Amino acid sequence: MFDFGMVGLGVMGRNFLLNVADSGFSIIGLDNNPAKALALQNECEVGEVKGTTSMGEFVKSLITPRKIMLLVPAGKIVDAVMDDLLKFVEPGDLIIDGGNSFFDDTDRRIDFLKPKGINFLGVGVSGGAAGARKGPCIMPGGSRDAYELVRPILEEVAAKVGKNPCVAYMGNGSAGHYVKMVHNGIEYAMMQLLAESYDVLKSVGGTSNSELHKIYAKWNAGRLQSFLVEITADIFSQSDNLADGDLIDKILDKAKQKGTGRWTSQHAMVAGIPVPTIDAAVSMREISALKGQRADASEMLKIEFTKQSADKDELVAAVEQALLFSFIVSYAQGLSLLATVSDEKSFELDLEATARIWRGGCIIRAALLEDIRQAYSKDPKLDNLLRSPVFSERLLETQRGCRQVVIAATNAGVPVLAISSALGYFDAYRRARLPLNLVQAQRDYFGSHTYERVDREGKFHTDWTTEEARS
Ligand code: 6PG
Repeated sequence: MFDFGMVGLGVMGRNFLLNVADSGFSIIGLDNNPAKALALQNECEVGEVKGTTSMGEFVKSLITPRKIMLLVPAGKIVDAVMDDLLKFVEPGDLIIDGGNSFFDDTDRRIDFLKPKGINFLGVGVSGGAAGARKGPCIMPGGSRDAYELVRPILEEVAAKVGKNPCVAYMGNGSAGHYVKMVHNGIEYAMMQLLAESYDVLKSVGGTSNSELHKIYAKWNAGRLQSFLVEITADIFSQSDNLADGDLIDKILDKAKQKGTGRWTSQHAMVAGIPVPTIDAAVSMREISALKGQRADASEMLKIEFTKQSADKDELVAAVEQALLFSFIVSYAQGLSLLATVSDEKSFELDLEATARIWRGGCIIRAALLEDIRQAYSKDPKLDNLLRSPVFSERLLETQRGCRQVVIAATNAGVPVLAISSALGYFDAYRRARLPLNLVQAQRDYFGSHTYERVDREGKFHTDWTTEEARS
């Protein structure tokens, strides 16, 4: 009999399961493909293991209450696997969806399984294939009792920061998948910010790939330390093994997406929470896909820019500041969305715990997350990181570099949609009076939508078209 079962033995499922075995639990895996079931048995070097293609055998071989995890593509396949599982599982068993499922689907599945007495957890897993094998960040949501059933296993397999496992109960219902979705929104933002920093250093500063490798590696040893900066440094040192030169220069500039970043933008819009840097990252992936149109437009809309003479060291220092600044702003946007939606959906998220587990294993792990954790530890009800005293000084210092980068990029015609959106968000957020009084006036002018006043209570309407009102 086995402690833990996995449905889906693709690279993520198999690696996660091997990690469970390394932690001292007996494992069984199910996949339609017999080669994958066999590969699991061959690859597992410790403890008791079995790979099977039979759902009946799989479920019956598990110790009750059964702990069954699904790592299959999000969407209809999850429902199809659950239908099959339901023929064999019993009340008290636990099904864990570890894929990037849409949070509404997770809520629907919890509601569907509850009357049947089957526990269900929607769990975000981050860290890619290597993370799954060696220690991912795990974001479980659902009922706390259901989490307790599997907590000892998840704590063993998760990445560790010091002795702390990068897993914690996130909250009720679809909280785990919602947190993972926002994690991915922040991931999109950070990746786009890095892409823009590369463009500025290359196109404005004339920096070579080998210099870029050194710059990002140096940043990664300092306050920008993070997984994404680390892999960016590595990427610039990779030579092409199919042709001469560096691989980065041969990669087509069209970015694909599976959708989690876009979901973050879409749901932030529904919740009424601004996340413009995440929006910009999604938009840039979409603009990147318009390769043919861009090629035409590059001829039609050619602009001759006066060559700027940039001091390279100064530019590198400014870009470092811009990145640090806009990374903080991206986390702030994502976490402010979590703070609001947690209340609306009664997730009861603990944002300190979220920042704590994001410090290791996941794609957005960074030294900054320890400071973010401290900010929420000081003020668990913090609605926006930008107002935490932990970050004030750093924001005020680094916004200078960010402005320099936006000016240099704009003067050179280099698009910095994400970096400038971070600066714009910051400037709007720290502005006591915005020009939106004019928007209110316009709404009232053409639609009698009324406006409020700064000097007295109530709703007001003006007949803007009469001479009398205008005088
Ligand atoms: C992770 C990642 C992962 C995601 C990929 C690809 O946390 O390990 O977020 O879950 O699927 O990064 O995402 P896109 O195809 O949308 O870029």
